Amino acid sequence: MSNATITVLPGDGVGPEVTAQALDVLRAVEEKYGHTFTVHRRRVGLDAITAEGVAISDRTFDICAASDAILFGAIGSLPGGHTGGGPRPEQALFRLRKEFGFFANLRPVRPPEALHGASSLKPEYLKGADLVFVRELSAGLYYGRLETVPGKPSEIRRTPGATEAVDTLLYTEAEIERVVRAAFDIAVGRTGKVTSVDKANVLSSSVLWREVVERVAGDYPAVTYEHMLVDACAMRLIRTPADFDVIVTENLFGDILTDEASMLTGSIGMLPSASLGTRRTAGGTFGLYEPIHGSAPDIAGQEKANPLGAILSAALLLRHSLGLEREAAAVEKAVDTVIADGHRTADLEEPGRTPVGTAEMGRHVVEALRHP
Ligand code: NAD
Ligand code: IPM
Ligand code: MN
Repeated sequence: MSNATITVLPGDGVGPEVTAQALDVLRAVEEKYGHTFTVHRRRVGLDAITAEGVAISDRTFDICAASDAILFGAIGSLPGGHTGGGPRPEQALFRLRKEFGFFANLRPVRPPEALHGASSLKPEYLKGADLVFVRELSAGLYYGRLETVPGKPSEIRRTPGATEAVDTLLYTEAEIERVVRAAFDIAVGRTGKVTSVDKANVLSSSVLWREVVERVAGDYPAVTYEHMLVDACAMRLIRTPADFDVIVTENLFGDILTDEASMLTGSIGMLPSASLGTRRTAGGTFGLYEPIHGSAPDIAGQEKANPLGAILSAALLLRHSLGLEREAAAVEKAVDTVIADGHRTADLEEPGRTPVGTAEMGRHVVEALRHP
């Protein structure tokens, strides 16, 4: 029996709506399998800025640190807000990722067959598509942003008559190696193929990235690998998605490619993620789990958000941080069942049919879990 502590950070916009459904599913798992999950609920993002003055307070951070896992909803600015100085909601994510050393962001893309018709691709292109992105998450262009330090600037420089801006894409060899190894390790348990995505025809950081991949690949003779330029990858993802297995890439490329890849499932609301480092928990690895989408201000508060990405993130939490593989697989199966039964939130529904709401979708998953 697992006795685990989970910190829930619902955040902004649709974050609280989808997280509530993921938490209900975790409660159903707790009940069905006899586990005990102690849940702490804390503010993050714009919600925390409004109530506590910062995107994530030290107290919240400490509560996360004392947990086995973090279940995260979404954070986000109000439309048009937060372009100037002052705290920004996104800072919460950057702090969590950096300070907890979450360098590997797993984003599985597994379009259920019943959703092939909902994708913007023709169904025949989706046959056999089942891939996982390993996005580097704690270095690269994003981390010129937090602090401007010599050699790693990210700033706008305004001087009379000439304004310029700079961002720095910096990777150490060690930062590349640990995420590439994570990708090869994952490939060993799958079909054994890694696609490393870079822009080595332009960027020095990508040339180093390739060198490291070549070296690491030597330790994995059973895994085949290829290098692919990011622009070609963007094209091939929607031409022949079934050709991919594990895709490893740097932070910003991974951010962009995974929003694109979400369309293989028909909606960004379907994709979960796990952000992992090296800290061990009693059952697995300490991690942060969130759907890949944002606060979706255009649909917030309307019961329109698809909660399945958040629910599938809870499944990843069970698997990676609590070591509960059977329970994780049961949640994933329950999601497949509700999709196969034809339940659709508005993002996936066919025109002319009435979609189910966020909470109703959550109830269907709980029901499918209780009575498989
Ligand atoms: P978004 O992901 O919030 O929304 C993009 C589009 O997808 C919108 O049309 C939205 O309605 C739709 N969508 C998103 N989630 C959905 C769901 N669960 N079900 C159905 N439809 C869904 O991206 P955006 O609008 O570019 O960004 C809004 C804010 O969210 C920004 O402030 C951004 O920084 C933030 N953001 C946060 C995260 C995160 O918390 N990890 C991720 C991405 C963006
Ligand atoms: C994501 C988001 C974040 C990112 C934003 C909110 C900073 O888009 O988690 O994919 O770019 O990493
Ligand atoms: Mn993103």
